[in-house]
Amino acid sequence: MGCSTLFSLLAIWWVALLWLRSNSALAGVSELEAEALGDLFVALTFTNTTPVTIDNACTAWPNQVMCDGNKSTITQLNFTLSQARGGTLPPTLSYLTSLTVFVVSNMSLSGTLPPEYSALGMSLQHFDVSSNLLTGPLPPAYRNWSHIKRFLAMNNQFSGTLPPEYSNMKQLEGLYVASNVLTGNFPPEYGTLMNLQQFFVDDNAFDGTLPPGYSSWNQVKVFFVSNNHLSGTLPSQYKNWTGINIFDVSNNATN
Ligand SMILES: *[C@@H]1O[C@H](CO)[C@@H](O)[C@H](O)[C@H]1NC(C)=O
Ligand SMILES: *[C@@H]1O[C@H](CO)[C@@H](O)[C@H](O)[C@H]1NC(C)=O
Ligand SMILES: *[C@@H]1O[C@H](CO)[C@@H](O)[C@H](O)[C@H]1NC(C)=O
Ligand SMILES: *[C@@H]1O[C@H](CO)[C@@H](O)[C@H](O)[C@H]1NC(C)=O
Ligand SMILES: *[C@@H]1O[C@H](CO)[C@@H](O)[C@H](O)[C@H]1NC(C)=O
Repeated sequence: MGCSTLFSLLAIWWVALLWLRSNSALAGVSELEAEALGDLFVALTFTNTTPVTIDNACTAWPNQVMCDGNKSTITQLNFTLSQARGGTLPPTLSYLTSLTVFVVSNMSLSGTLPPEYSALGMSLQHFDVSSNLLTGPLPPAYRNWSHIKRFLAMNNQFSGTLPPEYSNMKQLEGLYVASNVLTGNFPPEYGTLMNLQQFFVDDNAFDGTLPPGYSSWNQVKVFFVSNNHLSGTLPSQYKNWTGINIFDVSNNATN
C-alpha cells in the first residue's frame, strides 16, 4: 500500500468522523444540561457513582433520563421508582428547556416548588410531584407553561390559593391537587380552560361557591371537589357538561 493510498484512507476516516459528529450522533447534550442533571441527581439523593458528562447523560441512566433522537437534549426525567428518598427540587432544573415529562412522585421530597421552573414553559407537558412532603405555594410564575397537559401535585402540604394565573395553561387536561392544605375560592378565571377533563381538588380547605363559568368546560369528565368548605348552590349551568362521569361535591356545605 502506497503512501498516498494510506493518506487517502486516513482522510476518508477523518471526514467520516467529522460527518458523524456534525450529525450529532456523538455530540451529546450541552454542558449546561449535563450540569443541571448532575445537580438534580445530588438534590434528589439519586445514588450515582458515574459522574454526568455531555456524552453519557443520554445513555447511562436509561430508566430515568430520556433524550431526543439525536441524543442532544434531555426530554424526559422519571425517578418515581428509583430508590432515592428525602431530597429537594433544585432551581437549576430550569436549564433543561426541552423537558416534556418530569416525574418525581412518591420520593419523600421536601421543600418548595422553584419559581424558576417557569423557564420550562415552552416544552413541559407532564409535571408530577405528587405524594411527597412539599410545602409552600403553587407558584404563580408557572403561568407561562403553555404546553402543560397534566399537572399532578396531590398528596403534599401545598398551601395558599389556586393561582388565577393558571388560567393561561390553555392545554391543561388534568389538574390534580387533591389532599393538600389549599385555601381560597375556585378562580372564576379557570372558565377559559377549555381542554380540562379532570379536576381533582378534593381534601383541601377551599371555600366560596362553585363558579357558574365552569359550565364552559365542555370536555370535563371528572369533577372531584369533596371534603372542602364550599357553600352555596350547584350551578344549574353545569347541565351542559354532557361528558361528565364523576361529579362529587360531598362533604361540603353546598346544597
Ligand atoms: C437532529 O438534529 C437536527 C439538526 O441539529 C434536527 O434538524 C433534527 O430535527 C434532529 N432530530 C431529532 C429527532 O431531534
Ligand atoms: C414513570 O415511570 C414509571 C415507572 O417506570 C411508569 O410507570 C410511568 O408511566 C412513568 N411516567 C411517565 C409519565 O412516563
Ligand atoms: C411509594 O414508595 C414506597 C417506598 O418508599 C413504596 O412502598 C410504595 O409502594 C410506593 N407507592 C407507590 C404508589 O408507588
Ligand atoms: C416564563 O416566565 C419567566 C419569568 O417568570 C421567564 O424567565 C421565562 O423565560 C418564560 N418562559 C417562557 C417559555 O415564556
Ligand atoms: C354552557 O352553558 C352556558 C350558559 O349556561 C353557555 O354560556 C356556554 O356556552 C355553554 N357551553 C357549552 C360548551 O355548551
